Amino acid sequence: MKVSASIKVLMAKLLALFLLLISNLVGAPGELSPYYYEESCPLAEEIVRQVVTEAVYRNPRIAASLLRLHFHDCFVLGCDASLLLDDAGDIVSEKNAVPNLNSVRGFDVIDRIKAVLEEACPLTVSCADILAITARDCVHLRGGPRWEVLLGRKDSLKASLTAANQMIPAPNFTLEMLISNFQAQGLDIVDLVTLSGSHTIGRSRCTSFKQRLYTPQPYLELDYHRRYSVFFSALRSMCPASGRDNVLVPLDLKTSRRFDNQYFFNLLRGNGLLQSDNELVSEYPEAEVLSLVWAYASNQELFFKHFANSMIKMGNINVLTGDEGEVRHNCRHVNAYYH
Ligand code: HEM
Ligand SMILES: *[C@@H]1O[C@H](CO)[C@@H](O)[C@H](O)[C@H]1NC(C)=O
Repeated sequence: MKVSASIKVLMAKLLALFLLLISNLVGAPGELSPYYYEESCPLAEEIVRQVVTEAVYRNPRIAASLLRLHFHDCFVLGCDASLLLDDAGDIVSEKNAVPNLNSVRGFDVIDRIKAVLEEACPLTVSCADILAITARDCVHLRGGPRWEVLLGRKDSLKASLTAANQMIPAPNFTLEMLISNFQAQGLDIVDLVTLSGSHTIGRSRCTSFKQRLYTPQPYLELDYHRRYSVFFSALRSMCPASGRDNVLVPLDLKTSRRFDNQYFFNLLRGNGLLQSDNELVSEYPEAEVLSLVWAYASNQELFFKHFANSMIKMGNINVLTGDEGEVRHNCRHVNAYYH
């Protein structure tokens, strides 16, 4: 009696363990999992890492550009690689939307990653997942945190130029607009402040912030000091009132190649590059926003920890996990395009 009871307990325990393993490997339906490619393409993350490392070694800025691709993908119809589609048939590419045109870059690196993955495991790793892994690796390669990327996104069958124009926040947004823009994606104030910290790497064109160099904001008490600061006169000499719109300026003028918390120091000194950056320390800030900026400026570990959490949250926006999506063969085209 005693023996068979303990065998039953053992059987139950084995069954539970088995179910746990299965659910870890497969993931609940509709949910992402870090183990999604463990069976089907065990080297997926390794392959991405290698191609990204090589690209970043050759051109450090590409790390920033690739991180931004994941953001511009996720905010438009969800993280479904809709951003990567080129014009074809009835697809109108998001690449031509105002926030993207002459600005987003790195598509050639995504193509290279996809080509290697198609050799290793054809039609298995989605372009949306490639963007998520790439973003993580770029942050880590520049000295930022590393986190476990959740996988299993499918790629979209469509793109939306209209949504790209509406959903991606503009650099002249007010704090109120930024908060509600993030809220529409299910992201909160912590996400807004941490993810804005991405501007610790990469560059901006003059055209994205020039407006504020030449438009007085007399309703702001700080405006006078700002306009006559060394920072502003340096910016005005790089970006004259007319012309030189595509000249590039580092978003973090101190350490533009390092993913660190310097961005938040810059903000506190009034040296954020974009209007949207400075909105986080505006004269009438949400108390919570300002206290987060101070917290991240004084504690890089905290910034890294929150940043990783927010990236995972952003990576979960409206993911496709069922038949509404596919795994593209070529990130620039839906599979039907070839038939
Ligand atoms: C909060 C609202 C945001 C606004 C208004 C904004 C706006 C901008 C603008 C205007 C640029 C310069 C583009 C150009 O002139 O070509 C830029 C660059 C960049 N943004 Fe943001 N951004 C925001 C949030 C984010 C988020 C959430 C991320 C990533 C998770 C991000 C990552 C980057 C990176 C890495 C660059 C540099 C890209 C490069 O050097 O190629 N930004 N952003
Ligand atoms: C931002 O700039 C655009 C283009 O110059 C302008 O149409 C828009 O009204 C500005 N928005 C804000 C909030 O200032």
